[in-house]
Amino acid sequence: MTQTKKNREPEQKLNPIDFLEAQHREVEELFEELEDTSSRATKTRRQLVGKLAIAIEAHAQIEEKVFYPEGRQADEEMTLEAYEEHNTVRYALGRLKETEPADKTFMARVVVLKEFIEHHVEEEEQEYFPKVRKTLGKQGLMELGVSLQKAYDEVIENLENEGTESAKRSPETELYA
Ligand SMILES: [Fe+2]
Ligand SMILES: [Fe+2]
Repeated sequence: MTQTKKNREPEQKLNPIDFLEAQHREVEELFEELEDTSSRATKTRRQLVGKLAIAIEAHAQIEEKVFYPEGRQADEEMTLEAYEEHNTVRYALGRLKETEPADKTFMARVVVLKEFIEHHVEEEEQEYFPKVRKTLGKQGLMELGVSLQKAYDEVIENLENEGTESAKRSPETELYA
C-alpha cells in the first residue's frame, strides 16, 4: 500500500530518510509477493507490477526532484551515480511492464530488476543517506522532510490519475487518438 497522508505515522513526518527507507521496504515487499506468484497467476502478476511501477516511479521522482539536489552538497559523485541508476531501473522496469505475465522471461526480469534495486538501495542506506544526514543537520533535514512529503503526495496523485486514465481508454480510442 502506498503511503498516503492518512496512513502515515506522525513521528515519521519530519524525517526524510525514514520516509525514503519506508518506501524501500514497501518495494521489497512487493517483490516478495511477486516472487511468490506462479505463471498461472497472470492477473495478480499484472496488478503487482502496476503497484510496483507506481511505488518505484513515485520514489524515484521525489528523490530526483527534492532529495538528490540537496544530497549533492554531501557527495556529488554518489548523487550523479544515483540519477544514472534510476535510469537503469526505469529501463528494466519498462521491460518488465511489457512482458506477458505467463511468459518464461517474466520472472527473470523481476529478479534482475529486484537485484539492481537492492544494490542501489544498499548504497543509499549504507553510504549516501548517512552522509546527507551529517551534512544537512537537524534543521536542514526537517525542512527537507516537509518538502519531500509534499512532493510525494503530488507525485502519487498524478501517477494514480495517469493509471486510471490509461485504464479508462479502450484499445479503439487509442487507435484513433
Ligand atoms: Fe534512489
Ligand atoms: Fe531510494
